[in-house]
Amino acid sequence: DDDDFTHVINGIRYPRFVTEANLEAMATFDIRDDDIAIVTFPKTGTNWMLEIVTKILSAGGRTDASSDDMVGKLEFQYDDEPRPHHVMLQECASPRVILTHLTPDTAPPGIAHPQNNVKVIVVMRNPKDTAVSYFHFGQKLRSHFARKTPPSWDEFFQLFLAGKYTFGCYFDHVLGWWQKRDDPHFLFLKYEDMKQDLPKAVKTVAAFLQVKLDDASIETIAHACTFSNMKSTLDNSRYEDRTLMARKGIVGDWKTMFTEEQSRLLDSKCKKKLEGTGLQFNFE
Ligand code: PPS
Repeated sequence: DDDDFTHVINGIRYPRFVTEANLEAMATFDIRDDDIAIVTFPKTGTNWMLEIVTKILSAGGRTDASSDDMVGKLEFQYDDEPRPHHVMLQECASPRVILTHLTPDTAPPGIAHPQNNVKVIVVMRNPKDTAVSYFHFGQKLRSHFARKTPPSWDEFFQLFLAGKYTFGCYFDHVLGWWQKRDDPHFLFLKYEDMKQDLPKAVKTVAAFLQVKLDDASIETIAHACTFSNMKSTLDNSRYEDRTLMARKGIVGDWKTMFTEEQSRLLDSKCKKKLEGTGLQFNFE
């Protein structure tokens, strides 16, 4: 049931910008000792964390790059780009910030099993808000992510729940990475916690990256990375994808879309998948 805009590779649906060759190249992608990877399921805070990390690196004097200079998602290559991102990344100055939506099974071994000083930041967001954000993204970016005719919310919900939308099953993704929670190369943050206390999240990320910043710098970065302040950054980005990112930036928007029945279905899926794993989400 492939369509023009997505395809299934090894059981997972991907946008066609993620080619089979790109996925194969992940196995041999060269990781550098000072790489920083940001791992996310789509719509869970990728661009938010990218902005925070680049601002921390720049405040710490590690780089003068802005997040707009960064290469997009590792596994992608858009039609108008001459080379896949994983190739473009070979020419990037260190420290590189690498974005990926891949699972531990499909990501480069250097990210799934980091060695030395490699740092991996995993951002997670509650599945209801993730689904709503992803649904709206598909409506706007229909030629990239969805099909010619984007699905209705009800149809999208079924696909998302069944893990049949692009990038596969949300739960497989978060649980796959969550298995690494005791590995010191990894930092796990939740979108909802970042919303609640952004300075704390910035401080945590800076400490993880071993960048020493005083409280004033932490506050400045947190202030610049609030939704309203970042919205103009995203809207005016030179990297075209980012202009479609900033929508509402809140916790609990799922209530505008979910029926009671859908909410119950997702709650029971959460219970089944997450119970006993220690992984929990706030929905408000
Ligand atoms: S993508 O396409 O996977 O890279 O998208 P991603 O960046 O992961 O997620 C997009 C959602 O993140 C919201 N966002 C933010 N929320 C709060 N604060 C800040 N600064 C921020 N920046 C981006 C963005 O609005 C998308 O969520 P929704 O719910 O659709 O608004």
